[in-house]
Amino acid sequence: MLNKRILIKEISNKKIGTDVYLAGWVKKIKVLGKISFLTLTDVSGSIQVIALKENFKQFRELEKISNQSVISLKGTIKKSELKNADKEIEIKKLEILNLAESPLPIDLSGETTNIDKRIDHRFLDLRREKTLAIFKIQSEITSAFREFFKNSNFIEIQTPSIIGSSSEGGTELFPVKYFEKNAYLAQSPQLYKQMCAISIEKVFTISPVWRAEKHNTPRHLNESRQMDIEVAFVDEFEIMKYMEKSIEYMIKKVKENSAKELKILNVQPKVPKAKYLSYKETLSILKKNKINIKYGEDLTPESEEKLNKLFPYTVCYIHSWPSTLKPFYIWPKENGISGGFDAIYGGMEISSGGQRVHVPKILEKQLKEKGLNPKDFKSYIDSFRYGSPIHSGWSIGLERFTMILVGAKNIRECCLFPRDRDRLTP
Ligand code: AMO
Repeated sequence: MLNKRILIKEISNKKIGTDVYLAGWVKKIKVLGKISFLTLTDVSGSIQVIALKENFKQFRELEKISNQSVISLKGTIKKSELKNADKEIEIKKLEILNLAESPLPIDLSGETTNIDKRIDHRFLDLRREKTLAIFKIQSEITSAFREFFKNSNFIEIQTPSIIGSSSEGGTELFPVKYFEKNAYLAQSPQLYKQMCAISIEKVFTISPVWRAEKHNTPRHLNESRQMDIEVAFVDEFEIMKYMEKSIEYMIKKVKENSAKELKILNVQPKVPKAKYLSYKETLSILKKNKINIKYGEDLTPESEEKLNKLFPYTVCYIHSWPSTLKPFYIWPKENGISGGFDAIYGGMEISSGGQRVHVPKILEKQLKEKGLNPKDFKSYIDSFRYGSPIHSGWSIGLERFTMILVGAKNIRECCLFPRDRDRLTP
């Protein structure tokens, strides 16, 4: 029967009285004396299936079926008496493909299971409408990101996951055994996207990154995914414009293609406004709102929340940070000010980026200032010796961006198989 199978959503185009073949999971089943009901679901939706003892020879077999068992069936489309559905299926032929054990380890009908247990059984959790909605939206986000930059003549690149030296500071690396050498899991595609942009101008990549941060918070993972771009011949202000436009595109696409999922999650994301603020202006706005951050200190989660309250539905592009707060690869401007920026949206940092150092001498100096050894970065530094244009880029955290769009409070809701301080399985 499987080779004739259609998806449940395709029933809407078929006439009453048509015979169809379906397959999926049994969500609910009620077996009575002369009539039985079950709800069949597949990835496209759910439908009520009825069995009438007088018309269905296999009626007794229904008693064996447990919740979440996999079946395939042949049935006839009928008009439904239910308020929220116009069609249902009267079953004619049944094949039980796989019986599910019971009880199920998590509650699929309500909201009673906690997030840890749901992630322990993520394969089952994905059969909940809300969980599936989040990951369908995430898939739209990455498609739209890719589409936007492909349409803007960027080249998609693939960068290594095993690296020889740090890009985002020395303390957060996961060491890897690599024959006789020291190696690490990549913290970012940073150095590689730069080495591409100085030769092929406009590049993007979506890649996993690893950070050995010890803290467990609702907004940090030890393995996350980043959406990165890098562009030659532009400064930090031009690169921020790319972010404005791509965020607008991604949100429009999610609204267009994931309307059903947004409704399930009861959220209506808006295309955000953009507000450009210098680091100094940001500190003085925060000060007026009773949050004191000294010049030279990073923003706190509390201050990011405050910016969200002051500028709702707005991405705050905070630029002109002191160089001391930015990585070695960020261009130093005058008076200790850098060409780096952070983008704050929905109460947290969703991205950072900036103009890069394209001059080997300055790079060597900044590496030393950050306590890093230029020898460990030789091939990277040397790549700027043979015709290197100015260049800039940024990276948006995929899980954080998804959190904001779907209104999730914990980043683990937006990562299929999270890796955090305590979790390495599933
Ligand atoms: P940064 O370290 O700010 O910059 O990372 C960019 C964005 O990635 C997300 N992110 C994380 N999300 C969840 N858990 C984490 N532990 C985590 N770490 C980062 C955030 C963050 O804003 N190479 C630079 C970017 C650049 O300059 O192009 C970088 O990685 O949303």
